Amino acid sequence: MKITMIGTGYVGLTSGVCYSEMGHTVICADIDEEKIDQLKSNECPIYEPGLKELIIKNSSKGNLSFTTDIDEAVKLADIVMIAVGTPSLPDGSVDMFYVEEVARKIGKSINNYKIIVNKSTVPVGSADKVRHIIQSCTNIPFDVASVPEFLREGSAVNDILNGERIVIGVDSENAKDVLINTHAPFNIPIQVTDIRSAELIKYAANSFLAMKISFINEIANLAEKVGADVLEVAKGIGSDSRIGNKFLNAGIGFGGACFPKDTLGLISIAEQVGHDFAIMKEVVEVNKKQFYKVIEKLQSVYPKLSGKTVSILGLSFKPNTNDLREAPSIKIINELYNITNGHIHIKVYDPISMEEASNQLPSSVDYCHSVKDAVRDTDVAVIVTEWKEIIEQDWNSLASLMKKPVIIDGRNCLGLMHDESVTYLGIGRKKDKVKIVN
Ligand code: UDX
Repeated sequence: MKITMIGTGYVGLTSGVCYSEMGHTVICADIDEEKIDQLKSNECPIYEPGLKELIIKNSSKGNLSFTTDIDEAVKLADIVMIAVGTPSLPDGSVDMFYVEEVARKIGKSINNYKIIVNKSTVPVGSADKVRHIIQSCTNIPFDVASVPEFLREGSAVNDILNGERIVIGVDSENAKDVLINTHAPFNIPIQVTDIRSAELIKYAANSFLAMKISFINEIANLAEKVGADVLEVAKGIGSDSRIGNKFLNAGIGFGGACFPKDTLGLISIAEQVGHDFAIMKEVVEVNKKQFYKVIEKLQSVYPKLSGKTVSILGLSFKPNTNDLREAPSIKIINELYNITNGHIHIKVYDPISMEEASNQLPSSVDYCHSVKDAVRDTDVAVIVTEWKEIIEQDWNSLASLMKKPVIIDGRNCLGLMHDESVTYLGIGRKKDKVKIVN
């Protein structure tokens, strides 16, 4: 199949590259010339394990190319996939501007029958919107479909190539047959459904996972008050296969490009049809507050934070990505500056996100070369992102470099410290011991 992917963001680029890996001829199109130039010279604009290798491999085989000429890319395609951004508007609803723009471009360029697939996470009813826009520009026949993506940042290539399901939302027999054949090489179970169900599946999947996280975070907050340990509770409930043991890691909340946006998106989709999705509103509220647990724990050790040195370990919203969107690290650091009126020394370390973070953080933040550098002479080390490099440190010896050996583990990723002289505070952990050291 000849596939044109419009939009080379996270979803568009990784999916486009993976379709080419499956033997399809893929053109990835974008209006961003700099990005397309980068891709043409085999440079990968995002940090994603395995992606660059697949770009090089499939570009050299001739089944993957990059262009800014959207008109020609549409004309050459059997299937046109829309994978442009769908940011949140201030009221939480989804901004469809870019999707609608692309639909208009497709309407103007379409030269023969094509299947237009929405890959972007778009509200229920978006395929119909796209259909109407294209129909208003042309009489050429086409079908629309929804094939949502379930990839995670940092493991996107593996998630696409070894996913657990492919959802195909269609309303025509031809689109159904073509899209089933297009996805057959992935060898992943395919669910064929109607378009609106496919659109809702994407929001429901992300929102359910977000709900699991907010639920376990609330259990952690409760566990601290009743003297239980959230890791034990998560293990106990997660071994019930009806609940499942994934996405039960309590911590300082979810971030990234998807969960915060999609939970708000689902609430807004519901609101537009007069449905009050109260449970999702609570999921969002719990998450908004959860990063503050770190501040509370800091204050429980140092009631006056002014003048202290705080080391923040990990900045990206999760490991194996340089993405800082909705990252708790940024909220924590800004709040620390806020409550101390800037009278605080913040040292940070992240394996790959520090340059990016420097645009969003106060200028006096100290960027360190290693975990060791970051914790030297500090009053407290806060683990914000569970990078392997951070977890695998010898924490007992790191503690000896600190001014005061206080570790706040915002991701419950360290084994409990064996050294009794170290104050270790996890999230919802029974063995928390609070030592006032000033
Ligand atoms: C998510 C979905 O997993 C993916 O299927 C969808 O297509 C896009 O959104 P992503 O945002 O890349 O992917 O990351 P994910 O690994 O799901 O983590 C999301 C957030 O939840 C992170 O901030 C992570 O730290 C947090 N999280 C995850 C927890 O706090 N606890 C957990 O148990 C799991």
